[in-house]
Amino acid sequence: MTRLNAIRRLSLPTVLLSTLLCATGALGQQFAGEQFNGQEDALAAQMSSLIKQVVQNRYPTGTLRRFNQAKSLGCFDARFSVNENVPAKLRFGIFSHPANYPAWVRFANASTQDDEDKDLRGMSIRLSGVSGDVAWGQPGYQDFVLNSHPVLFAATPEEFQEFIQAQLDDDMLWYFLNPAHWDSLLILLNARGRPASPFDIRYWSTTPYQLGPNQAVKYSVKPCSDYRSEKPNDYTNNYLRAAMQTHLENAAVCFDFMLQSQTNNRDMPIEDASAEWDEDESPFVPVARLTFGHQPFISTEALDICEQSEFNPWQSLTEHKPLGRMNYVRKQIYQELSAFRMQSRQPNP
Ligand code: HEM
Repeated sequence: MTRLNAIRRLSLPTVLLSTLLCATGALGQQFAGEQFNGQEDALAAQMSSLIKQVVQNRYPTGTLRRFNQAKSLGCFDARFSVNENVPAKLRFGIFSHPANYPAWVRFANASTQDDEDKDLRGMSIRLSGVSGDVAWGQPGYQDFVLNSHPVLFAATPEEFQEFIQAQLDDDMLWYFLNPAHWDSLLILLNARGRPASPFDIRYWSTTPYQLGPNQAVKYSVKPCSDYRSEKPNDYTNNYLRAAMQTHLENAAVCFDFMLQSQTNNRDMPIEDASAEWDEDESPFVPVARLTFGHQPFISTEALDICEQSEFNPWQSLTEHKPLGRMNYVRKQIYQELSAFRMQSRQPNP
């Protein structure tokens, strides 16, 4: 249980203090391209409340799971090594010098408990032993929260809220019959897949983050292991965990962590999470490598520890502060929702 204690929970006084310090964030200094309207705190509170209702409806009894990325496929101890040849213009925060950080990595299915279903997959990374001021949370940690598709189906938090409301009203059919939501539908249909393994696919932050004083970047992580899993002839409920286990028995897992710099706000907007930043215009540059080896991860105890882990894109150095309104509302929502599901945990008999 030591790794759980070491990395999972943030102490309440630290979180309350940093929340107070960040309370003026939406109206404070804006980064170029950010367009806050002063309604973001109220919006975050409304969205949190709606999501709590959705989660409670989904799990009327027992322990609540995450609203998004609810099926833990597995959590792993890993090493995050910052490369020696990071280009000078990207050397900020944890990428300022070569170093190794212990990492904790969670893979998940976005919306289904059954691996056979087409779905998005998530990858969440928490580094520990990191130095520098944090934007929120506990000093010493840096989280990265990533999805297996380069864009989000919603451009703005308001669009995300409409989607949550439709779920709550059990109105998804009407929601997607509305031509205003056809772009979202198209993105969701394209985003869903049935990969051979979560270790074989690429992940993206989809939303932008600050890099140093005046750059904006998006993150992406791509596999660099020689080993590739084979697609099974028969997909099963837990085929992804089986593929991950076979991979680990045969080879180490390796991902390159990459940064993509924003070159202009017109084609690479901060405030539209559904807009892909063109890789021809600005290619992703590898800056670090994530590696991990064979370890147990499918036992009931290991999966329970994985379930209890918490990530928040705001658990971040200020030099990597999340940007834009979509990221802004996530701070409060992730904090409230993880506390909500942790409170629902049944005490051990
Ligand atoms: C306003 C927009 C968003 C809302 C309301 C939202 C909501 C949530 C919530 C409530 C959770 C569960 C938190 C917990 O119980 O610990 C979650 C988890 C997650 N979300 Fe989001 N999300 C948003 C945007 C995004 C974006 C842009 C990404 C793109 C990478 C993303 C990827 C993930 C992932 C990977 C997780 C799992 C984190 C973990 O492993 O604990 N979400 N989201």
